[in-house]
Amino acid sequence: MSRIARDSFSSKFGVIAAAAGSAIGLGNIWKFPYITGVHGGAAFLFVYLGFILAIGLPIMLSELVIGRKSRRNSFGSFKKLVPKGLWKYVGVLGLGAAFFILSFYGVVAGWSVRYIFFAFTDAFKGSSAEITDFFNAFKTHPEKPLLYQLIFMLATGSVVVLGVNKGIEKVSKVLMPVLLILILILDVRAITLDGASEGLSFLFKPDFSKLSFEAILEALGHAFFSLSLGMGTLITYGSYINKKNDLVKTAIQVTVADTVVALLAGIAIIPAVFAFGLEPSAGPGLIFETLPNVFQTMAGGTFFSILFFLLLSIAALTSAISILEVVVAYFTEELKVKRKVATILATLLTTLLGVICSLSLGIYSDVTIFGKNFFELLEFISSNILLPLGGMLIALFIGWGLGKYKVFKEIAQGGKLDGRFLAIFMFLVKFLAPIAIFIVFLYGLGVFK
Ligand code: TRP
Repeated sequence: MSRIARDSFSSKFGVIAAAAGSAIGLGNIWKFPYITGVHGGAAFLFVYLGFILAIGLPIMLSELVIGRKSRRNSFGSFKKLVPKGLWKYVGVLGLGAAFFILSFYGVVAGWSVRYIFFAFTDAFKGSSAEITDFFNAFKTHPEKPLLYQLIFMLATGSVVVLGVNKGIEKVSKVLMPVLLILILILDVRAITLDGASEGLSFLFKPDFSKLSFEAILEALGHAFFSLSLGMGTLITYGSYINKKNDLVKTAIQVTVADTVVALLAGIAIIPAVFAFGLEPSAGPGLIFETLPNVFQTMAGGTFFSILFFLLLSIAALTSAISILEVVVAYFTEELKVKRKVATILATLLTTLLGVICSLSLGIYSDVTIFGKNFFELLEFISSNILLPLGGMLIALFIGWGLGKYKVFKEIAQGGKLDGRFLAIFMFLVKFLAPIAIFIVFLYGLGVFK
């Protein structure tokens, strides 16, 4: 059977840009600053960093190993590596998560795109209450957010349809440096504000007495989401990585990039919030409700608010691309349809699901299941059930399913084998990661409440 060569990344920088582009997203810029604010700052941050290192990094390496070894999409990879048994269904969980996450992700990303234009006209000026009303009126409106969600999803689909090398890699190589420049400009602005130092000590001086059990569990859940783990994004991207690339190095570089950008986002946002006498603990509205208050008072606020929402939209785009690619890779390889057809189908389905998410915040907000509207339900199922379950099974697969010899052989291709590193890695994926994730999973289901 003649096969067309599988599309792949063409350079090391391309791999890092695409994978970091996946990891760096709304999770870093929207969610990380607000959960750090809610959970009291530095102490939460230190716990988060611990989880990134001890659990995030090994699972990221595991996903890359599975992907590159099998050279398949997230479902096909397990099927190819261990055809018998139940392992292949891990990929099914991932596909479900991809659909769900992309649908609500597109909604929030759409808000971000809309806010770039709002920023141009200073539309969100006014008292704190007016700014909040403005945001609520927008997000609950039946049509207005849909238009921007649609624009965002079309942009995502247009990159994915071009393929791994000519679409995803090319776009990431341009957008990731732009993202870095934007965030650095915002950081300089934030730390040169009068009164910024209070925010910096909130971020970096830990007070461990503030740390709750809930905060610890949330830190692990977020480490997962932020690194794009648990649903096969990095299996899919790993399958496009050249055998000459060092997977350990790649995993470390992507993890560091993601963490540094989360910190930079925290530095751009929290000191500014403190400098204007506002609270960092506003929750999910921190960006769309608290920050506009900051921008309207700050010198050059219009300019910086445009940059900020541009940054947020770019970060969201490269992440959404990676989620859509999971679905498209599955459709093309397992259902044997052309990339174009697969992309149109996947974009259409996730956008439709997203429309329901968006409407569930407004006109359908009284339709609830288990007390949650559709948006909250999808977020709950994916972040609290599918991702942890997927991540745990991926760790177990590398730790117990695939066999040490095969894992080490794949790591050795393009990289060096360091005995001590491998021993720690195997310990983490065999024991620590699955157990820690299982605890978070139970917590997410409300078992400890
Ligand atoms: N990591 C991205 C963020 O921080 C979101 C994301 C992309 C993701 N791919 C994923 C989350 C896979 C979980 C699983 O916004």
